[in-house]
Amino acid sequence: LRILVLHGPNLNMLGTREPGHYGNQTLAEITNNMHTLAESLDIEIENFQSNHEGALVDRIQQAVSEDVDGIVINPAAYTHTSIALRDALLATALPFIEVHLSNIHQRESFRHHSMLADAAAGVIAGFGATSYLLALRGLNDLLRIQHI
Ligand code: DQA
Repeated sequence: LRILVLHGPNLNMLGTREPGHYGNQTLAEITNNMHTLAESLDIEIENFQSNHEGALVDRIQQAVSEDVDGIVINPAAYTHTSIALRDALLATALPFIEVHLSNIHQRESFRHHSMLADAAAGVIAGFGATSYLLALRGLNDLLRIQHI
């Protein structure tokens, strides 16, 4: 399987950014742990982080021509605002898992709504860096066992 892992704005700051919400792991450490899990699941993953909505849209569109089987995405603040990311994900028709480090439902009310969640195959939030690993395991199961 090939899985594209996308990270939205400010996630390049993980490690130092609001550790009370997002923990101490850097994006590089999270990515390393994902690679280790991916190897054990026989998955190929590719990571992409951008602070720019359009760059994320471009990367999602590109996935179609790359034989990608599914997407794990932490859209960060664009979760709550981006019709463009929603449309791009729907256009690929690929299954995707929405991931958050923090439990967005425990936080400010403007974080409670996601523009993407109802279109996602699954949503994982609140497990810190482990959220990404759970998402990868979940997507692997959906693709291989439930044949979505
Ligand atoms: C986040 C939650 C979002 O509300 C926030 O804007 C982020 C990170 C999370 O992983 O908990 O940047 O997606």
